[in-house]
Amino acid sequence: MTQQDACTLLDTDHQKVERLFAEYQSAPNASKKSQLAQKICMELTVHAIIEEEIFYPAYLAATRDDTLVEEAQEEHQQAKDLIAEIEDGDKIDPLMARLQKAIEHHVKDERTEMFPKARKAAGMDLVALAAQLETRKQELMANYQPV
Ligand SMILES: [Fe+2]
Ligand SMILES: [Fe+2]
Repeated sequence: MTQQDACTLLDTDHQKVERLFAEYQSAPNASKKSQLAQKICMELTVHAIIEEEIFYPAYLAATRDDTLVEEAQEEHQQAKDLIAEIEDGDKIDPLMARLQKAIEHHVKDERTEMFPKARKAAGMDLVALAAQLETRKQELMANYQPV
């Protein structure tokens, strides 16, 4: 496997979720929608955990950019609240639309602000971080329980 950097790994997750949201929108029936919603919630939950446990602390240590990290954490909290409602709700369409919008905004911040700064930061080993993110992701995916 070629070595990838942490930003690429995280953005691959973002792209996957973008595809799943598009599939959700064109899903033919409620059971397919609910299946896709569960998958989106799992992907986002695991993604948020690996960012919070591994990527954001490393980014903060290297850049001291607490404004961007605090904003990101608030956006994660909003997403988690919506995910909790989606995972135990049945009228999920409006919640999924809100989640998609919130995630689009959050991903844009990471893509256009945080990741470029991370790539320029001295003292961030993005290849080593990618390996840590990947290991933790596998572990969380294997043990995932919806809320
Ligand atoms: Fe992210
Ligand atoms: Fe994030």
